Amino acid sequence: MTSLAVVPGSFDPVTLGHLDVIERARNIFDEVHVVVVHNPSKTAMLPVARRLELIEASLRDAGISDRVVVTSWSVGLLVDYCQEVGATVLVKGIRSEADVTYETPMAIVNRDLAKVETVFLLPDPAHNHVSSSLVRQVAALGGDVSPYVPAAVSRFMASGDFV
Ligand code: PNS
Repeated sequence: MTSLAVVPGSFDPVTLGHLDVIERARNIFDEVHVVVVHNPSKTAMLPVARRLELIEASLRDAGISDRVVVTSWSVGLLVDYCQEVGATVLVKGIRSEADVTYETPMAIVNRDLAKVETVFLLPDPAHNHVSSSLVRQVAALGGDVSPYVPAAVSRFMASGDFV
């Protein structure tokens, strides 16, 4: 039987911490679906299509693109996506106690809704201070985000396409 896990997130943009969690999930599960969850009520920095492109390029550059599907989901619950593809496991990265506090209610609700279990993985602590919101803030103020994001993302953010 093929094991399948879903790694959801906003990925606005994908960071080195996300990449670390995706790689760890891929080491455990046969197939991993990285799902960009589009929240229309949240103002995003990057359109979903660009987020998908940057995740795909980052996975390719890191040599971890096979057995990983990159897609988006904007209609209904995340567990609806899980049911559509037959996934019973979500993977989330945990950097701190604050992440546990934030993720625990969602994990319980997802289990109540559709028996989808959440597995928490610990990324390399070197990435514990890294978040997409921090990257967005540094980028908005003209700072260098290259220590926090894959090369494909920093190249894009330094390009004329972004500014
Ligand atoms: O990268 P983020 O912004 O921390 O990701 C949060 C995300 C997208 C994983 C979370 O908001 C989510 O799971 N959204 C799906 C909406 C949903 O199904 N909600 C009900 C159960 S929690």
